[in-house]
Amino acid sequence: MRRGSIASLLGIGIVSGGIAAAVALAIPWLPVSASKEAGRIDFVFWFVVTICIVIFAIVSAAILYSVVVFRAAPDDDSDGPPIHGHTGLEIAWTIVPTILVTAIGIVSAIVLSQDDAIAKNAMNVNVTAQQFEWTFSYPEAHNLTSATLMLPRGRETVLHMQSRDVIHAFFVPEFRENEDIVPGLTTTLNVTPTRDGTYPVICNELCGLGHSTMRSTVTVMEPAAFDKWLKGQSKAVTSPSAATAGAAVFKNNGCAACHTLTAAKATGKVGPDLDKLPAEAQQAKQPLASFVRTSITDPNAYIQPGFPKNVMPQTFGKAIPKQQLDALVTYLINSSK
Ligand code: CUA
Repeated sequence: MRRGSIASLLGIGIVSGGIAAAVALAIPWLPVSASKEAGRIDFVFWFVVTICIVIFAIVSAAILYSVVVFRAAPDDDSDGPPIHGHTGLEIAWTIVPTILVTAIGIVSAIVLSQDDAIAKNAMNVNVTAQQFEWTFSYPEAHNLTSATLMLPRGRETVLHMQSRDVIHAFFVPEFRENEDIVPGLTTTLNVTPTRDGTYPVICNELCGLGHSTMRSTVTVMEPAAFDKWLKGQSKAVTSPSAATAGAAVFKNNGCAACHTLTAAKATGKVGPDLDKLPAEAQQAKQPLASFVRTSITDPNAYIQPGFPKNVMPQTFGKAIPKQQLDALVTYLINSSK
């Protein structure tokens, strides 16, 4: 090969590699990285992208060079020379990809095993997925339930995830982690948040008509703020005063998103008006207390006229511990009078 052709091949390769690198680096492709695991996964991502950019530069240099230099003249209808392969080239394009793919495999395996290692002081959170709701509960704090996930910064948390119906998947883009939640299994996911903020929790498995609405949030906060939240909440939900406990359970479980209840300053319009519970119980021909309880634990048992079935999640009966459920029922009865 002439020196001129090597120089032009190199030149094209450097330019196209430079363009690819600029596109990769100049555009913020990824959301912020908010966990230790995300940092490791991003490392694998950029490791692979770097390899891709180098290969892209080599291939585009060869193609562009060939298109220009070996272009046939307009009146040239002859066949090209017969070529019987090139042993050296074939060995190279077998060995180089083998090395690259093996390297990607090794790097990925190391990152996966680091992300799966459970720290000694790890906190546990139970995650329940059901069409189309997320419920989070804290076994180390009276099974306190919450409709949003709260996590302390810097501490590893193991999520123990179960589904009540079909396959869902837990995905937080800022954590770069995704894990299927399969009925009958408990799948786990480790996350060590590194950045304060509120990020989306997304269901990442098509699970029915409401799949796209199956979202919640995760809030990462300072460990001291988290401890304060956890203590305050578990004190509230286990308070001997049903007003305090019930109000906390009502708030934690996201009831206000769908229901109106003046006592809780809730103005949701998706479900029945909870200020009118006594009238609704009368309409259902049920005693108020059992009407309220059944409407939470088995919402399809009686549907208030004008509201559709299967909108109220059927998780609450199992997700909310009995004591907290009692407090919620008492709170609702007292608030609606
Ligand atoms: Cu749950 Cu999609």
